[in-house]
Amino acid sequence: MTTVHADTARIPVPTQSTYQTRVADYWNAEENPVNLELGKIDDLYHHHYGIGDADRTVLDEPDPGRRRERLTGELHRLEEAQAQLLASHLGQLSPADRVFDAGCGRGGGSVVANLRYGCHADGVTISAKQADFANQQARKRGIDDKVSYHHRNMLDTGFTSGAYAASWNNESTMYVELDLLFAEHARLLRRGGRYVTITGCYNDTYGRASREVSLINAHYICDIHPRSAYFRAMARNRLVPTHVQDLTQAALPYWELRKEADHLVTGIEDTFLTAYRNGSFQYLLIVADRV
Ligand SMILES: C[S@@+](CC[C@H](N)C(=O)[O-])C[C@H]1O[C@@H](n2cnc3c(N)ncnc32)[C@H](O)[C@@H]1O
Repeated sequence: MTTVHADTARIPVPTQSTYQTRVADYWNAEENPVNLELGKIDDLYHHHYGIGDADRTVLDEPDPGRRRERLTGELHRLEEAQAQLLASHLGQLSPADRVFDAGCGRGGGSVVANLRYGCHADGVTISAKQADFANQQARKRGIDDKVSYHHRNMLDTGFTSGAYAASWNNESTMYVELDLLFAEHARLLRRGGRYVTITGCYNDTYGRASREVSLINAHYICDIHPRSAYFRAMARNRLVPTHVQDLTQAALPYWELRKEADHLVTGIEDTFLTAYRNGSFQYLLIVADRV
């Protein structure tokens, strides 16, 4: 029997669940200084965390205004290092290639890929406001002929199958079911294409999600997956890991410094530090080939 719902015609575009609408509401309303003030420095807007050793001498700056400025700059440098690390794993890309930035935020990751490889990029976000903002930035930079952002669901993009040489999720996998996500990446990537993710995941060896992991879920309205779930879902969706890197230790200096930045803190800093230090949470880079 075929059942046709009377309200089929009212399904919103992008197709999304009530949960996804709440996630979109969150990102449409989001104006955190830690995202906006850092981005303003060079118009590279990242909504992810940073990696690498921090220059903590910025904290010794006696002038309060200058101290704030140097702290903001240093956090941005660490976020930029994270974006560059991800981009460095996208494979051999040429200017003719196309990449897919799943859950693209205000667009920094696609700009980084375009500047590095000259490639075309399609960013997708469930937030209409983010997509508009990112497209404005691309126009301002004069790269809008190659880089575009779309208000769509990354689980169901409608883009052409096999059209992409590389794709990634930078801190956006925790909003979706991994099997649905990886099925869409596998569909979009050409054979031999590259998939990369940097993500927080809970550590299976801890047992289940810790109190801190649950607090992070509540803070961002997300659902952090265990590390094991990534590899199972990749194996089921033609994505074969070629490189895995535990970035947990490399992530600590960023959070330790951010905690000191009174003008940028969001209140979740100590929770991240505890989660990383008690072994319940990991910051992971996974690189996979589409076979
Ligand atoms: C933490 S931000 C990361 C943004 C970006 N990747 C970056 O590194 O700057 C999470 C992003 O995932 C997006 N997102 C969450 N669920 C989504 C979905 N189902 N489809 C598309 N985007 C989604 C949000 O709109 C937001 O842009």
